[in-house]
Amino acid sequence: MRIFALSSALVAGLACAQSANAASVYAGHAIAASTCAQCHGITTPASGAPFPPLAGRDADYLKTALKQYRDKTRVSDVMNNIAGSLSDSNIDNVVAYYARLKP
Ligand code: HEC
Repeated sequence: MRIFALSSALVAGLACAQSANAASVYAGHAIAASTCAQCHGITTPASGAPFPPLAGRDADYLKTALKQYRDKTRVSDVMNNIAGSLSDSNIDNVVAYYARLKP
């Protein structure tokens, strides 16, 4: 049963991920849903909210931004805290997820 549930989740992930590495997108979705979506939403932030949208953005841009927040070369109290707890593979995964979404 467990294996079945996991593989259907992966298939659902794949359906919107197309050629993306499914495992990476799947892990990225978990991070986005549990952490980032509170502010950034999944496809769009709440209207009028001060949070930039992430869906469909350039992957290199998002990756660079997150690494800059993590090493504090880009300053934002909120994002410095959040990115500070992300590993390189967390960043790769969450970027793989967001970059492939349609805005
Ligand atoms: C508590 C709210 C909050 C949460 C949760 C949050 N962010 Fe942010 N994020 C912000 C704010 C505010 C900004 C704008 C900061 C600035 O001015 O640089 C931002 C900016 C960004 C940017 C830069 C976008 C751009 O256009 O330059 C990226 C990338 C980003 N966040 C990714 C993430 C990811 C990935 C997560 C989840 C791991 C996340 N954020 C969670 C509030 C949040």
